[in-house]
Amino acid sequence: MLTLLSVFNLLILCGTESSAISTIIINATVGDQVLFPVPVHCGSQYGVTFLLTSPVNAKLASWGFGTPHKHALYEKRLQIHQNASLALQKVQIYDTGLYEIHIDCYDTAVMETTKTKFDLQVFEPVSKPLITINCSTKNASLSCCVSKGTNVTLYWEIQPMSGPSDRIDDKAELVISPGHEQDKYTCVVQNPISNATSDLQTLEKCNDQSSTGFVLYISISTATVLLFGLVIIIFIYIAKLTTDDKGNNTAIEKWNEETCHLSDGAIEATYITRIRSS
Ligand SMILES: *[C@@H]1O[C@H](CO)[C@@H](O)[C@H](O)[C@H]1NC(C)=O
Ligand SMILES: *[C@@H]1O[C@H](CO)[C@@H](O)[C@H](O)[C@H]1NC(C)=O
Ligand SMILES: *[C@@H]1O[C@H](CO)[C@@H](O)[C@H](O)[C@H]1NC(C)=O
Ligand SMILES: *[C@@H]1O[C@H](CO)[C@@H](O)[C@H](O)[C@H]1NC(C)=O
Ligand SMILES: *[C@@H]1O[C@H](CO)[C@@H](O)[C@H](O)[C@H]1NC(C)=O
Ligand SMILES: *[C@@H]1O[C@H](CO)[C@@H](O)[C@H](O)[C@H]1NC(C)=O
Repeated sequence: MLTLLSVFNLLILCGTESSAISTIIINATVGDQVLFPVPVHCGSQYGVTFLLTSPVNAKLASWGFGTPHKHALYEKRLQIHQNASLALQKVQIYDTGLYEIHIDCYDTAVMETTKTKFDLQVFEPVSKPLITINCSTKNASLSCCVSKGTNVTLYWEIQPMSGPSDRIDDKAELVISPGHEQDKYTCVVQNPISNATSDLQTLEKCNDQSSTGFVLYISISTATVLLFGLVIIIFIYIAKLTTDDKGNNTAIEKWNEETCHLSDGAIEATYITRIRSS
């Protein structure tokens, strides 16, 4: 027993660690399954250790030589496949970190350890960005807002009236000096695993100095048309009821004179509806 132990100690002491340590970057999406390759180039005597080295140190699994072991917190998510790979399922942002796989070959004259390092980065995909316009100053400003996604970077694309589109700025707010109201703008957001583009946006509504007045005008016009229609419908309905229930109309409400007066310079309308139960 003692000899065996000392032989092992010797093996470990003499073990030549493979000098070529490569780091494999894995960019993963939240919820994905990540496969870590386990390239075993040993005979039948080998041991595999799967370690987390950053942000904390922990031995997550080991198998091959000795009793297989899995960290309690990874029991369900970590699967060892016979085809030389290790699967970590349903990765989350907190799985981002540095991992190592050590493969120890015991049946060579001198024990060899092969280390592979993994830099696992887990990202949440970006959602479609929304552009909001602020026309209240002389230079209009566009803001790009994205509600979902981690490590998001953004840039703007301008599509002039003529000519090719151009990538312009990478700030969340884009300030546009007067004279570019006809151009079209989009905001592109991205991270290593996804990207998304906003709808095309123009500054045409900033063109009109009184853009709010214009909106009000549209609203009032629409409201007028709707109200006019409603009044006609009610009038026809009441008239129909009156003819249908002649002499038996106690239930019919007595309407007093109703006056709608809309004044907006351009529109001036007065409707008078007078309905009486008889
Ligand atoms: C190993 O097997 C698993 C499931 O059986 C599969 O998802 C994975 O792609 C395989 N990996 C390789 C490297 O063949
Ligand atoms: C628009 O910009 C002006 C000047 O920068 C600012 O005072 C105002 O709060 C902004 N409005 C909105 C809705 O962001
Ligand atoms: C992603 O963001 C986190 C937190 O802001 C940061 O620590 C990490 O370095 C970023 N990763 C990349 C690839 O930019
Ligand atoms: C508007 O933009 C121009 C350049 O595009 C800049 O010189 C000027 O200071 C800006 N004005 C305001 C009020 O931001
Ligand atoms: C992972 O994302 C980084 C940027 O953070 C990029 O440089 C690298 O090429 C990506 N790697 C893979 C394998 O997608
Ligand atoms: C955006 O994502 C699509 C796939 O969804 C990809 O084909 C395209 O190259 C990406 N564009 C950029 C600028 O990253």
